[in-house]
Amino acid sequence: MHINNKNLSKKILSWYDNNKRSLPWRISQKSKKKQYYRILSEFMLQQTQVKTVIPYFKNFVKKVPNLKALSNSNNNKVLKLWEGLGYYRRAKNLHKTAKILIKKYRGRLPKKFEEIKKLPGIGEYTANALLALVYNQPRIPFDGNIKRVFSRLFNANLEKNEKKIIKIINEQFCTNRNGDLAEALMEFGAIICKPSNPLCNICNLKKNCQFFKNETFSSVSKKRYDKEKKYNIYCYLKRKKKEIALTKNKNLSFLSNFKIPETKLATSNNKKNNGWTYLCNYKNNISNIKMDINLFYKFIKNKPKKYMWHPIDRRSNEFIPSFTKKVFKKVAK
Ligand code: ADE
Repeated sequence: MHINNKNLSKKILSWYDNNKRSLPWRISQKSKKKQYYRILSEFMLQQTQVKTVIPYFKNFVKKVPNLKALSNSNNNKVLKLWEGLGYYRRAKNLHKTAKILIKKYRGRLPKKFEEIKKLPGIGEYTANALLALVYNQPRIPFDGNIKRVFSRLFNANLEKNEKKIIKIINEQFCTNRNGDLAEALMEFGAIICKPSNPLCNICNLKKNCQFFKNETFSSVSKKRYDKEKKYNIYCYLKRKKKEIALTKNKNLSFLSNFKIPETKLATSNNKKNNGWTYLCNYKNNISNIKMDINLFYKFIKNKPKKYMWHPIDRRSNEFIPSFTKKVFKKVAK
């Protein structure tokens, strides 16, 4: 591994200063809102792209303007504001974290890595990101983008040499703008050092970059959640007039806590026509999960209590997952 310049952090910060996007959570260091904005945005940005997060973030801070308000909100309100963003466990964890911060830490994020990492929904990556962004600590949050940047710069496989590389980075990248550096690296990875077709010709680090020199790239292994998973699903809709039966069944692990119609993974044994009418086939994706759904329905005479009955044509304030909303749409057509 070879590095031939000690001013990498200067170069990357200078690129950032000239090119950074204006994002609603990037507010003044001095602002009282900074901490709340950073916590909220880092939770939203877990496994979700910046452009998707922006409108959700803006709406969320309009309705819930600070950490105290978040800790006092009810769970349903928080989920409702998260509706459509996916990975709802993040919303629940964010809410729990807000309550703990208010109760146990007088509304301040702890400064120690071990303590911050104990909070619900905060893993190694988010702990490092928040400590760098909120407290300017010299920490690098290694996400896919940042790993790719370093893998290319040093022509090294970060998965294999992580400790060694972190040590080198800490020596080579020292700066008094640690928060900016963390964000600059994320931004640089997303905009210049892209996974495919990186913009090497306009990159101001190319002279320092082994990838550019060798045109080789030691690949960064893809995270598990990047892998696509495909499911064939049969969805059985029980109807009573304009209401449909929802349940929290466990047949689909990725939707097991949500109110959905009765749903099964398709197998060759599924009896499609056993009193069921075929309605349609459609695709539905929830991030990396690709679903091919066959929708069947049946009108029934009574309303068994084991189901939660939901009107198909009325909006409600209740949290409804996108899976079920799509079913409503198909039925209404
Ligand atoms: N991804 C995670 N955190 C981010 C941030 N603060 N800015 C841009 N992308 C991010």
